[in-house]
Amino acid sequence: MSLSVRNLQIAYRTLRGDVQAVDDVTFEVADKEIMGLAGESGSGKSTLGNSLIFLEGRMRHVGGTVDLDGKALPISNYRAMNRHRMRDVSIIPQYAMSALNPTKKIGSLARDLLKARGFHLADVLPEFRRRISLVGLPDNVLGMYPFELSGGMRQRATMVISTLLNPSLLIADEVTSALDVSNQRAVGELLTEFRDLGYVKSMIVITHDLSILAQIADTITIMYAGKLAEKADASTIVDKPLHPYTQALLSSLPEVGLRYEDKELTGIPGRPPSLLDVVSGCRFKDRCPFARDRCRDEPPFVELLPGHQVACWKASDEVKGLGGWAHEGAAGSAPSIGRAGGEVEHPGGAEGPGSERPGDANATALAPRVSEGLEAPVGKGQP
Ligand SMILES: Nc1ncnc2c1ncn2[C@@H]1O[C@H](COP(=O)(O)OP(=O)(O)OP(=O)(O)O)[C@@H](O)[C@H]1O
Ligand code: SF4
Ligand SMILES: [Mg+2]
Repeated sequence: MSLSVRNLQIAYRTLRGDVQAVDDVTFEVADKEIMGLAGESGSGKSTLGNSLIFLEGRMRHVGGTVDLDGKALPISNYRAMNRHRMRDVSIIPQYAMSALNPTKKIGSLARDLLKARGFHLADVLPEFRRRISLVGLPDNVLGMYPFELSGGMRQRATMVISTLLNPSLLIADEVTSALDVSNQRAVGELLTEFRDLGYVKSMIVITHDLSILAQIADTITIMYAGKLAEKADASTIVDKPLHPYTQALLSSLPEVGLRYEDKELTGIPGRPPSLLDVVSGCRFKDRCPFARDRCRDEPPFVELLPGHQVACWKASDEVKGLGGWAHEGAAGSAPSIGRAGGEVEHPGGAEGPGSERPGDANATALAPRVSEGLEAPVGKGQP
């Protein structure tokens, strides 16, 4: 097991109180696993990713542990983490592509980063050049400024630099978001290639774009309001999601070829709860069409089927063969979510979780859906 995160809690200190951005999160990432992490804007994806390598000023490690390759990562100790950054765990932060220092050439940026980790660029230069060529960048890219490169080229250069020391874990945060569709695909394919070549052992790929994850991720984890809602194989999440929030996210995706008059995008009614003053019970209950009194208690994030973890009372009952979860609206009056909400097969069918891999027919069935992904439809009504 590459990564093991247990009961992780990360908060931001603000003048209005602590923002519980990551709240009691537990998950594992296996060797060679590419775990996609998706969810609405503000759900805590970047906070979770960043906390595994760098706690910035306002971030506070409230509790929980992180083990990488069987050893504890001292995430709350900035100095102690220095010896792990880039070597054991590396990150391509959200907005990294546009945050590259415009006054430094690519080679010089790489030299500074390596120096901060106690390495000399000269020692890794032959491998650096080999990888630059592997990702289709010209030889002279080391002597170029970031503004001389296209978005796709900058992203590929960032990927090469961040994985130069073959880290055990790479966190790639929205690396495809600012790219056009063909560059998105190319960068997505490179991520899997880097894993296959052993440049990185496992990855967390954070994105709004479930269609990219359906193509490249082995597993997908869905996050909602600082908590994990569901984790399973990519094909299981796409075809047989159990959590009403995951079902709603999938229903929000537009389908290529369908006109608005034919099928109106449903979006998700309401907005996520504030993370400043967290309510008790299921965090999704005010927006969930299935919510009932029991949802006032917090559902645990547990493995309901092999390799399929879910935090939902309804899903738990369904897996046990207990029914009675029609739209009762006991704790809210959210309207029906739509397609996925009504079509989920009863779990435990012939094709159990784990039987399919990304890239198979079911997982790629999502790919043609327009890939701007979740932000637009889900974001309706967001602040
Ligand atoms: N520096 C900060 N100070 C205070 N609160 C913050 C800070 N950064 C993020 N937050 C809050 O933490 C929560 C999680 O934010 P985060 O950026 O991790 O979400 P995200 O899922 O990555 O969103 P996005 O998809 O928009 O990138 C949000 O409520 C956000 O407002
Ligand atoms: S059914 Fe209940 S526990 Fe499940 S997502 Fe809805 S509100 Fe949460
Ligand atoms: Mg983010």
